[in-house]
Amino acid sequence: MAQSSKRKQIHLTINGVEHQVHGDEAFLPLAQFLRYHAHLPGTKVVCAEGDCGACTVLVARWNENEWSSFQTLNSCIAPIYLFDLCAIVTVEGLAEEEELNEVQSKMREFHGGQCGYCTPGMVCSLSGLADSCSQNNTPITEKKARNHLTGNLCRCTGYEPILNSAVNIDLKKWTPLAQRYLKKTQQEIFQKISTNTIHLEGSQKMVFSPVSLPEAISLKQQYPQLRIVSGATDLGVLHNKGKFFLDHVLVLNRIAELAKLESTPQGLWIGSRTSLTDFENFVEKEQPELSRLMRIFASPQIKNQGTLAGNVLNGSPIGDSIPALLTLNAEVHLTSAKGSRSVPLTSFYKAYKSFDLQPDEICTGIFIPTLGKNWMTKFFKVSLRKDLDISAVTFAAALKIENQKILEARVALGGVGPTVIRLPEIEKDLTGSLFSEDTFKNVGKKVRSLIKPISDLRASDEYRLTVAENLFHKCYIELCQESASCP
Ligand SMILES: Cc1cc2nc3c(=O)[nH]c(=O)nc-3n(C[C@H](O)[C@H](O)[C@H](O)COP(=O)(O)OP(=O)(O)OC[C@H]3O[C@@H](n4cnc5c(N)ncnc54)[C@H](O)[C@@H]3O)c2cc1C
Ligand code: FES
Ligand code: FES
Repeated sequence: MAQSSKRKQIHLTINGVEHQVHGDEAFLPLAQFLRYHAHLPGTKVVCAEGDCGACTVLVARWNENEWSSFQTLNSCIAPIYLFDLCAIVTVEGLAEEEELNEVQSKMREFHGGQCGYCTPGMVCSLSGLADSCSQNNTPITEKKARNHLTGNLCRCTGYEPILNSAVNIDLKKWTPLAQRYLKKTQQEIFQKISTNTIHLEGSQKMVFSPVSLPEAISLKQQYPQLRIVSGATDLGVLHNKGKFFLDHVLVLNRIAELAKLESTPQGLWIGSRTSLTDFENFVEKEQPELSRLMRIFASPQIKNQGTLAGNVLNGSPIGDSIPALLTLNAEVHLTSAKGSRSVPLTSFYKAYKSFDLQPDEICTGIFIPTLGKNWMTKFFKVSLRKDLDISAVTFAAALKIENQKILEARVALGGVGPTVIRLPEIEKDLTGSLFSEDTFKNVGKKVRSLIKPISDLRASDEYRLTVAENLFHKCYIELCQESASCP
C-alpha cells in the first residue's frame, strides 16, 4: 500500500485566520477551542448535547479540490480533528468592516436579539440561510426560516421577532461568506497538504485521518480498537456526558471514494461519508417518502454534520432511518483487509447495540435497491414534539399493491424493543389481503400482541402499543389518498 506523507497537526481557518492545532488541543470540542484557545467567546455552550444551537458556527470544507458551501453545525459536540482544511466562521466573523451585517442589522431592527446565550447561534443560523439563499438566488420565506431555526432553541420571549427579522433580510445587501473568507492564497496552502494522512497524538490519545480507503483498512487492521468517528453527533454527545471517551479514533471524512452518491436502475448508493442533509436532498426524487421523513430528523446543524452510515451503525432502536431502510431491503457494505461483504440490514442487528460487524471492518456505504412498479411506502416518526426530538415510536411499511390487493408487504417498527424490528407475522397477514381499512385495523390490533415496548421518559408502554396500532390505520388512510387501488 502506498503511504501518503504524514502530518501531525490540523490546519483550519477561523474567521479568515489560519490555525494549526496539535496535541491535546486537537481532541477538544470545536466550541471549547474557539472559546478558550482562539479567544472567541461569542460562541456559547449551553446544553453541550447538540440540542439548543447556542454553539452554532458556519463551516466550509476544502475537499477534493473544491470548497463546499458554508453550512451550520453545532460546535459543542464536534471534536476539532474533524475540521482539517475547513474554513470556520463564528459570530465574531459576521460583521463587515466593524459594521453589523445584514442579518445582524435586521435582528436589531426587528428586536430579534434576545438573550446573550441563544442570539449568537440564531444569528449564525440565519446567516447560513442568507448565504445559501443568496447563492441559489431564492428568497428567504418564513417557512425556510422556521425550518432553518429548528436547531436553535429560545426559552424566553419566542420566535416572532426572529422570524420577522429573517423575512426582512435584504439579500442584495448580503456579501457571500465565500467571497469574504475563501481566499485563493489559503486554497493553495490547503491544496498542497490535502493528500497528507493525519496522525495526531495527545496524552494517551491518538487519531488517524487517512485520505485513501486502503490506508484506512490497513489502520483498522493494525489497530482494531480505533473507534470510527463520522460526524460525531452520536459519539460527541456520549463523550461530553463522560459515558465514552474518544481517545483512539479513525476519521474517514477525507476519503473521496466514501463520498460517492449514485443512482442506477438497480438502486441508490449512499457512500458512508454522506451527510444526512445530502442524503435528504439526494433521495427527494427517487424516494420522496424517505426525504419527507428526513425533514423531521434532528435539526439542520445535526444533519449537516451527521451521516446516514452513522445512524445505521449506531443502531439505536429509535434510529429514525432504520425502519425505513429495513423495509426497503437496504444493505450495509463492509470492508476490511480480509475483503468486502454486503450484509442485508434485516440480519445486521443482533441485539441491543450488537451488530454483524467485525472490529476491523469499515462501512463504505449503504445500498438501497429499487422497489419497482406498484410499490408504495409510508414512514412515520412519532415524538413528543415535531422538530428536534427523539422518537417514541417509528413505523415503516413498503407494500406492493395491485387491483386492490396487497401482493407483498414489508413492515418495521422502532422504539418498541431493543432493536428496530421487521414484523414477519404481520407481513404474512397482509400479503394476499384486500387493501382495505379492515385489513389494516386488524393487523394494527394484532401487533399489540407481538411487541413488548417499555415505559421510559419519552412514553409509557401502553402509549407505544396504542401508537403502533394506530399507525397501521394512518398508513392505510395516507396510502388510500395516494393510491388508485383505494376501494
Ligand atoms: C441534537 C441531536 C438530535 C438528533 N436527532 C436525531 C433524530 O431525529 N433521529 C435519529 O435517528 N438520530 C438523531 N440523532 C442521532 C445522530 O445525529 C444520528 O444517529 C446520526 O446519523 C449519527 O451520525 P454520525 O455521522 O454523527 O455518527 P457518529 O457519532 O460519528 O458515529 C455513530 C456510530 O457509528 C459508527 N460509525 C460511523 N461511521 C462508520 C463507518 N463508516 N464504519 C463503521 N462504523 C461507523 C461509529 O463508530 C459510532 O459507533 C440526534 C443527535 C443529536 C445530538
Ligand atoms: S451548546 Fe447546545 S447545541 Fe451546542
Ligand atoms: S433568546 Fe435565549 S432564551 Fe430566548
